[in-house]
Amino acid sequence: MKIAIVEDDINMRKSLEIAMSDYQEFEIKTFKNAKDALKNIDDSFDLVITDINMPGMDGIEFVKALDGKYEVIIMTGNATLQRAIESIHLGVKDFLLKPFDVDTLITAIRREDRIQKVKKTLTKRSDKKSISGFFGNSKALEGVLNIANKASKTDATILLLGESGVGKELFASYVHENSPRAKKPFIAINMAAIPENLIESELFGFEKGAFTDAAEAKAGQFELAEGGTLFLDEIGEMPYSVQAKLLRALQEKEIRRLGSSKSTKINVRVVSATNANLLDKIKNGEFRDDLYYRLNTIPINIPPLRERRDEILQIADKILEQNCKRYNFELKNFSDESKKQLLSYRWPGNIRELISVVERAVILSEGNEITPNELFLEHRGLSTQKDISSLERELIAEVLNSKNGDVDKTSEILGMSKENLIKKIKNYQL
Ligand SMILES: Nc1ncnc2c1ncn2[C@@H]1O[C@H](COP(=O)(O)OP(=O)(O)OP(=O)(O)O)[C@@H](O)[C@H]1O
Ligand SMILES: [Mg+2]
Repeated sequence: MKIAIVEDDINMRKSLEIAMSDYQEFEIKTFKNAKDALKNIDDSFDLVITDINMPGMDGIEFVKALDGKYEVIIMTGNATLQRAIESIHLGVKDFLLKPFDVDTLITAIRREDRIQKVKKTLTKRSDKKSISGFFGNSKALEGVLNIANKASKTDATILLLGESGVGKELFASYVHENSPRAKKPFIAINMAAIPENLIESELFGFEKGAFTDAAEAKAGQFELAEGGTLFLDEIGEMPYSVQAKLLRALQEKEIRRLGSSKSTKINVRVVSATNANLLDKIKNGEFRDDLYYRLNTIPINIPPLRERRDEILQIADKILEQNCKRYNFELKNFSDESKKQLLSYRWPGNIRELISVVERAVILSEGNEITPNELFLEHRGLSTQKDISSLERELIAEVLNSKNGDVDKTSEILGMSKENLIKKIKNYQL
């Protein structure tokens, strides 16, 4: 297996080189920065392992530049854990929390190796029969779906808010599928994925000769989504200059192609999404408040997976089943200890992370029962102790129960205001 390691710290780099040289099966190339690595990594590499915090191009930008061509393992300190989590969105499956021992790294590499081998045996089928829909249910999800259902029937703009991997895109297509526009196009465009200077022409299109490269006129996504829904993902990344044009398009219900003097009427429902804090962006002058209010007619807050605990095992079971079928394995199941771990892990990368952890465990598990080892969650900072909020939840549940659900008595015993208690009961879905 040929592996590229990118690490700016010379001590760390050298110790990894030395430690890894004991393993004949791995051919290691190390790089002291991402730029060097980008220049030298080619198809012969099977895996890239990178640090996040590096001068110049950092690990996340590096992963973006690799563009999904390589499997990546990220090494991260606690301070950059949040960034490592962003990388799940970019397709990174494993991250190791520093400090880790070499054995953990070797285990991670061997897991990757086996997964690549098993995946290669998978005969290419029409794999893009994307598995849509919600695989689990919880009170919290139901609440959000209720709002989405009502909103679907209208043409109001919806703003989907929530952490990475909670299902914003899934919700956007759900809204479309359940709207009167379902038979018309659903077009998703991601502001973070398009170079800034192309966003405007992508959205609104251009006429022949509008700029040097415009040899042909081209319709923008607004025109292509006519009659349907346009999903503007990561709207917080939209350049300020384009924001005014979007606002105008929403208000006037018409757009103008670049280089054209004439406007075209459009009939498009806009749904947008972000995991950024738009109010902060407004304060910093990066986002227009008038556009914010326009997009935010119906805000839908999608709670993180850790507030939808009931869904964890339901989703995990579905993914398990799907993957056993896909790889022609007998149906496996999770050991009790694995279930406990699935339930107590924080899932910072939410459902996307859960899916990837379970998929990998299915491929790696030797027997029919998936063990905690195969979930490989410990090195991500799985806390085996209960966190404070789950202790609080249990306490409130117990007292409520003993008082037959009497909120007044419970708040008295807990020394908590009734208002506060009710809020917590709602939050913890008791
Ligand atoms: N309730 C669910 N049941 C099954 N699969 C789900 C569920 N929610 C999300 N998914 C799947 O999880 C993955 C992540 O969801 P999605 O892309 O919608 O998240 P997102 O909020 O847009 O994330 P990001 O902010 O990182 O773009 C997708 O593959 C999606 O199909
Ligand atoms: Mg998304």
